[in-house]
Amino acid sequence: MMRTTGAVRRFTDDPLPDEVLERILDNARFAPTGGNRQGAHVIVVRDRETREKLVELSVTGAQRYIAQTKNGEGPWNPVKPMRVTPEEVAATEVPPYLGAPVLGADAVLVVCVDLNVCAAFDQYLGRIALIPGASVYPFVWGILLAARNEVYGGVLTTMAVAEEPRIKELLGIPDDYAIAALLPIGKPVKQVSKLTRKPVSEIATRERFDGEPFTS
Ligand SMILES: Cc1cc2nc3c(=O)[nH]c(=O)nc-3n(C[C@H](O)[C@H](O)[C@H](O)COP(=O)(O)O)c2cc1C
Repeated sequence: MMRTTGAVRRFTDDPLPDEVLERILDNARFAPTGGNRQGAHVIVVRDRETREKLVELSVTGAQRYIAQTKNGEGPWNPVKPMRVTPEEVAATEVPPYLGAPVLGADAVLVVCVDLNVCAAFDQYLGRIALIPGASVYPFVWGILLAARNEVYGGVLTTMAVAEEPRIKELLGIPDDYAIAALLPIGKPVKQVSKLTRKPVSEIATRERFDGEPFTS
């Protein structure tokens, strides 16, 4: 299952019934969270108008992503300053296919998390905080795995979160919550069978970061 749960962006017209979606969430909810505080909340969006607004709200994130990628930068990376101008970003065209998964899936799950229950041990390190995400992304990945198990599929998207305040207003999300991901879910046109990933020897080393590649 883990080797074949790829990003699904094209969906058939088949419905994702509430009872299947409930089962998917019922399995995914067993994901770990810091202190078992379980701060996630899922909004199941099926309404067409709401989805169109979500696509509109992903333009800001997409423009900078595309502009920086074209300029050879790591898009939205929190380490190096952006080298394209705000004017260039604003003038960047966003191809309509980027919004297709949110419009074409039978449901879009907006996963948010209550920051009051996320222990952010890395909040004073002078870099962007990563640890609070660990209290929600295992759940997000669990949803995609559980969907695959039901022969459904989806994709983890985050671009729209650049406009988080406006999404929160649109969906009535409380102040202390952060949006972790938007997951379009539906019946895949095609199930992927082979994913392109780095081998273990490239991503693991012995004893130290610069240690020998880990292989058996
Ligand atoms: C944090 C994160 C953000 C992502 N954001 C988007 C997104 O905004 N739009 C999109 O189509 N895919 C998005 N993806 C999906 C990735 O592009 C996808 O997982 C990756 O390319 C691997 O694809 P594969 O599983 O089909 O090989 C995101 C994935 C992650 C983990």
